[in-house]
Amino acid sequence: DVRPSFTIAIDGPAAAGKGTLSRRIAEAYGFHHLDTGLTYRATAKALLDAGLPLDDEAVAERVALALDLSGLDRNVLSKHEIGEAASKIAVMPAVRRALVEAQRRFALKSPGTVLDGRDIGTVVCPDAPVKLYVTASSEVRARRRFDEIVARGEEADYESIFEDVKRRDARDMGRADSPLKPAEDAHLLDTSEMSIEAAFQAAKTYIDAGLKAN
Ligand code: DC
Repeated sequence: DVRPSFTIAIDGPAAAGKGTLSRRIAEAYGFHHLDTGLTYRATAKALLDAGLPLDDEAVAERVALALDLSGLDRNVLSKHEIGEAASKIAVMPAVRRALVEAQRRFALKSPGTVLDGRDIGTVVCPDAPVKLYVTASSEVRARRRFDEIVARGEEADYESIFEDVKRRDARDMGRADSPLKPAEDAHLLDTSEMSIEAAFQAAKTYIDAGLKAN
């Protein structure tokens, strides 16, 4: 049986709401979900924990090749420092090659998969039948990050979060290998003024049309 699994590719910048939306979609359709950002974060954390440098591509590649996708834990990997380190190693082609390979294997799971990240529709799964590009203004995204942190009872400074968001965008969109950008055939979903539920309903319309056509 070589029937390909049905893959939904979701891309977008940090804090645009793609994580929440992806989990909601995976749950609604009974599909497996992979937050590919966690693969970059887990690789970065393994380097940091081992006291290994973040700027040695061969070392980072070795760690990426050894990564076990089944053990990824968002809670352990959510720290700001890990995100920054992930963004740095994500510019390395050898690291991307290793992680993209693992992500493509995950995408084949039956009956279907939702992968979210920066390059799913453009590089990892260019043949995905449904592609979404989820975005929101940098102000709204910084505000959401700020609210999340405050809700956890921690201190937050809006201005510095806003600067972080812009710096992360510049790095993700400006890198030479697989920069963040919408695939030509992606549906754009601007969630600046949308609730999660409204975003889900919009996504559902595209997904149901894709399932019907498949
Ligand atoms: O979405 P996130 O914050 O967990 O991602 C962490 C970093 O990983 C992000 O700055 C860019 C990188 N990343 C990537 O290059 N490609 C992906 N498909 C997912 C994440």
